[in-house]
Amino acid sequence: MLIAIVTGASSGLGREYVRALDARKLDEIWVIARRKERLQTLAEETNTPLRILACDLTEPAVLHAIEEELAKNHPIVKYLINAAGFGKIGSFADISTEELCAMIDLNCRAAVAITQMTLPYIPPTGKILEICSCAAFQPIPFLNVYSASKAFLLRYSRALRTELAPRGIHVTAVCPYWVRDTEFIAHAKKTKNPSYLSTFPFPQECAEIVRRSLRGAENNVDVVTPGLVPFLHRILSSLLPHSLMMLGSRVFHRIGR
Ligand SMILES: NC(=O)c1ccc[n+]([C@@H]2O[C@H](COP(=O)([O-])OP(=O)(O)OC[C@H]3O[C@@H](n4cnc5c(N)ncnc54)[C@H](OP(=O)(O)O)[C@@H]3O)[C@@H](O)[C@H]2O)c1
Repeated sequence: MLIAIVTGASSGLGREYVRALDARKLDEIWVIARRKERLQTLAEETNTPLRILACDLTEPAVLHAIEEELAKNHPIVKYLINAAGFGKIGSFADISTEELCAMIDLNCRAAVAITQMTLPYIPPTGKILEICSCAAFQPIPFLNVYSASKAFLLRYSRALRTELAPRGIHVTAVCPYWVRDTEFIAHAKKTKNPSYLSTFPFPQECAEIVRRSLRGAENNVDVVTPGLVPFLHRILSSLLPHSLMMLGSRVFHRIGR
């Protein structure tokens, strides 16, 4: 059974990846997110059968259940796309410990666990896409833990790519800038003081990011910055001191407030 696994498939980028993979002659796409009804609606749209795994990836027991599902079915995983993730905008002091830890659990721990448990089922030329962010390129005050979690995911993905190269498995880190048509920003702003980041310039759209990143993965690209703005962000943050980048983004956001 040839399959893809997509986490965060109930909305935004994850859902768009499922739609794009629908044309790739897979026997099944395994979709993971908490909102079951959203996944069921998506299943009505696609020709490829979706296996719905409605669960909260921050719960350790859930990771075991997914591992068991893999062991029971022994699929060949052509694509693994870890898109589940969330961020919180605001002062570190005001975001609850529970939310900060859940961010790390989902953005880092769950992505690592799912990648490792899926690895035995990924054939040579199989693709792993870890959805990181431009936030990985520099520390971002008031998006503090989120940007750190994405820096972790980016570093981890790049090293994993080198480790898996002899097996012919391709790992691509995808680093979008702001995305307009997802629930991410609305969810991130649900904090005590979201106005610390109130401008979301040069937003992109899911379809473009998905198209560019799947093309990048097919061509075994290491890091996909799907557009000019994320590309420039990556270059600038590799050339300039991060203290200067942080100052620049503070000034930018102060003007926007
Ligand atoms: N939007 C942006 O501006 C932007 C920019 C750069 C990078 N990214 C990254 O892109 C990825 C996709 O985000 P998006 O923009 O598509 O946001 P989104 O529309 O909010 O989608 C996030 C997905 O993650 C799932 N999810 C959240 N918490 C979960 C949990 N505890 N267990 C299982 N699934 C969970 C959500 O499903 P349920 O709520 O149904 O569980 C949803 O399907 C994220 O990793 C994000 O960090 C986003």
